[in-house]
Amino acid sequence: MKSIAERFKKEKPLKGFRISGCLHVTTETANLMETLKLGGAEVALCASNPLSTQDDVAASLVKFSKVPVFAIKGEDNKTYYKHINNALSIKPNITLDDGADLVSTLHKSRKDLIKNIFGGTEETTTGVIRLRAMADKGVLEYPIIAVNDAYTKYLFDNRYGTGQSTIDGIMRATNRLIAGTVFVVSGYGWCGKGIAMRAKGMGARVIITEVNPLRALEATMDGFEVMPITEASKMGDIFVTVTGDINVISKIVFL
Ligand SMILES: NC(=O)c1ccc[n+]([C@@H]2O[C@H](COP(=O)([O-])OP(=O)(O)OC[C@H]3O[C@@H](n4cnc5c(N)ncnc54)[C@H](O)[C@@H]3O)[C@@H](O)[C@H]2O)c1
Repeated sequence: MKSIAERFKKEKPLKGFRISGCLHVTTETANLMETLKLGGAEVALCASNPLSTQDDVAASLVKFSKVPVFAIKGEDNKTYYKHINNALSIKPNITLDDGADLVSTLHKSRKDLIKNIFGGTEETTTGVIRLRAMADKGVLEYPIIAVNDAYTKYLFDNRYGTGQSTIDGIMRATNRLIAGTVFVVSGYGWCGKGIAMRAKGMGARVIITEVNPLRALEATMDGFEVMPITEASKMGDIFVTVTGDINVISKIVFL
């Protein structure tokens, strides 16, 4: 990023571009925003998840980097969407999304802005699934690059980044020793593989639930116990769902 920033500073390849980002408001995103600005772009940022916003980072971006940031940690749903609309107020030419909330807001209630936009990026698996569904129906109105499909994304961020940050979040929230716990991971995709690997490394007994038979077989060959959630739910101490799906665990499962 540093060498790109140096180059952008001299070449200004983004001069005249307006970029709205809906991303996790964290230090990594702050670096991205500063780099885009050095490249000459006008940028505005809102959160892609109300729980991941680092308020000090948002404040620093506003104060020192003069980037408009619309995000408060723990903001309610109404404020979250108000902030997405605020980030769109610069009338972007490019959108950066992580989960497709910005793009779906544009398509639902800010259609007037779409004529200015020539492209965008989408970071995560769930966002790509939502956008592919829109493209299949013929309603996605501009091209979007699926960042998640890059080897350098899913092989590393999904597997190792989410593997580490999920375990870290659970430890901070519960203060529990992972060793000896029965740790259920639903979904053996890229994130699931990383979380299962880390939990196993910390001494947990790891159980995988998976709806795709090939991935279930892969989990078995990797040395994990694999079973339906109806069985795993009777044994687990900690449950992590990394599927992009809804209702993976429901009350019915536990009855
Ligand atoms: N917060 C982050 O930093 C971050 C980073 C990367 C991905 N993600 C999110 O994590 C989720 C998983 O991403 P991924 O890249 O691992 O996806 P993936 O497509 O590689 O894996 C998902 C797996 O879940 C399985 N699955 C679907 N429904 C299921 C169900 N009901 N029960 C059990 N298994 C089920 C699928 O068969 C698949 O194998 C997505 O929502 C993605 O957007 C978050």
